[in-house]
Amino acid sequence: MFIPYPAIISYFRAKQSDMTTVDIKDKSFSISITEEEIRAAVTRIAAKINSDLDGENPIFICVLNGAFMFASDLLKEITIDCEISFVKMASYEGTQSTENVKTLIGLNEDLKDREIIIVEDIVDTGITIETIIDQVKQYDPTDVKIATLLFKPEAYRKDIFIDYVALEVPDDFLIGYGLDYNGLGRNLRDIYTLME
Ligand code: IMP
Ligand code: MG
Repeated sequence: MFIPYPAIISYFRAKQSDMTTVDIKDKSFSISITEEEIRAAVTRIAAKINSDLDGENPIFICVLNGAFMFASDLLKEITIDCEISFVKMASYEGTQSTENVKTLIGLNEDLKDREIIIVEDIVDTGITIETIIDQVKQYDPTDVKIATLLFKPEAYRKDIFIDYVALEVPDDFLIGYGLDYNGLGRNLRDIYTLME
């Protein structure tokens, strides 16, 4: 039977958003933040950035891999002039943060005298964000701000102010919307919590 292309798309969307639990490798996760809730939170902080940085020309620095989806949706809502660049960092092994943050792709833009907004998927202990800020500051930017999709206040161990937090979350392990468990789950449209 011939099914027109748009019908196929909406069939897969309906099927995926019906999922309330997902299994990845040895673990099960249950839905905790829906795509709609994420979208509303992203729109809210984008509006704040648009008003705070009106007249500026900031460079957003997206922290790969986890922030790719957030950065994409956030930038679509940014109406001021802006640029985007990428860094690649890794600190997690399995479901645990490690003290050892590795820089896999570094900065290569001219950040001197620019407004910088670091775009993170999640600030957990804060070790990664501190490492990135130290690296960015070496380029002598005008200002460095942080925009994060998720923030775990109970796990945070640093004093650095997080300028834009889309959603605060408990100290649980999350996947989806860019966040992974050993590389898997980044493609999920919603955010899921590890079930103990
Ligand atoms: P931090 O250095 O402890 O703040 O951890 C930050 C990085 O660890 C984030 O950028 C994520 O890539 C990863 N991370 C922290 N919490 C989670 C989680 O719940 N799920 C998946 N990745 C996480
Ligand atoms: Mg990250």
